[in-house]
Amino acid sequence: MERKLMQIQDRALEELAGAGSLEDLNEIRVRYLGKKGDLTGVLRGMGALSAEERPRIGQVANQVKERIEDRLNEITANLKDHLTRQRLAAETLDITLPGTAFNFGRLHPLTVITRQIEDIFLGLGFSIAEGPEVELDYYNFEALNLPKDHPARDMQDTFFITPEVLLRTHTSPVQVRTMERTAPAVPVKVIVPGKVYRRDDDATHSPMFHQVEGLAVDRRITMADLRGMLQVFAEQMFGPETRTRFRASYFPFTEPSAEVDISCTMCGGKGCRTCSHTGWLEILGCGMVHPRVLEMSGYNSQEVTGFAFGMGVERITMLKYGLDDLRLLFDNDLRFLEQF
Ligand code: DAH
Repeated sequence: MERKLMQIQDRALEELAGAGSLEDLNEIRVRYLGKKGDLTGVLRGMGALSAEERPRIGQVANQVKERIEDRLNEITANLKDHLTRQRLAAETLDITLPGTAFNFGRLHPLTVITRQIEDIFLGLGFSIAEGPEVELDYYNFEALNLPKDHPARDMQDTFFITPEVLLRTHTSPVQVRTMERTAPAVPVKVIVPGKVYRRDDDATHSPMFHQVEGLAVDRRITMADLRGMLQVFAEQMFGPETRTRFRASYFPFTEPSAEVDISCTMCGGKGCRTCSHTGWLEILGCGMVHPRVLEMSGYNSQEVTGFAFGMGVERITMLKYGLDDLRLLFDNDLRFLEQF
């Protein structure tokens, strides 16, 4: 048996010396050391040996196995090394060729403007609140002083999921959600950026658009606070020369209510096509929070007052960048988007 082992060893080493590829080497490994290999076959036959012979032959067999393995590993390593060198030598790298340019993405103009609005109000001490886009009728209308039969509901026709659940038509429901969470504590100072939905679709209206809502509730908040806060906002957003004016208006959830115009960003107020020759551009709605809204949200309207405002991000973006069609913002045309 010992002789047989030696024969296997000699034959294996000879074959290894002649191997020219990794496939050859693998084949040799299987043939000698594999489960059905020659050496394994011999080791299986050891059961037939006498008790004195078995340890000695076992030792020889292990030595043979080790020698074949060592040699196999050594040759494999050398061959791999050789192949790598060959490949590297064949590869030429021309470092004078121009590189491949990376295409960096950029923020969508609506994201840029939303963040600018957020930054301005964060600087004025507001924090950011959010609420669900799928909203209850109660928060979207009822708690904002728009009961079921209120005619002002017609201005905000929307997508209903059930009679009581809808896609929110404005960010104002988050006023109520925030007050409910905080009452009776003051102050409340939040802005609410987010998506809103309406049954509208033309050059200046999209069924999905974005708003930023603002709400401040505290003792002795007055309309002068609202006026000053919005003047600061207009100057920071549209430039220090920007003027604002309040026009009386109506919203069910504010009393009194106003619409705010800024001096035209195109002509500075002289009158041009953008401002329909009025010199003014409307940018948002606002007012003093209606006492009934405060009460429904858990505040004592004898003790606290509040102001609120809501603006359309698409509208601000269009004014900032001089866009004449809102749909540009949603077409995802790179020729447009790459200009920002
Ligand atoms: N929610 C109103 C809208 O979508 C905008 C608005 C007006 C919000 C007056 C307010 C506000 O907070 O006080 O048309």
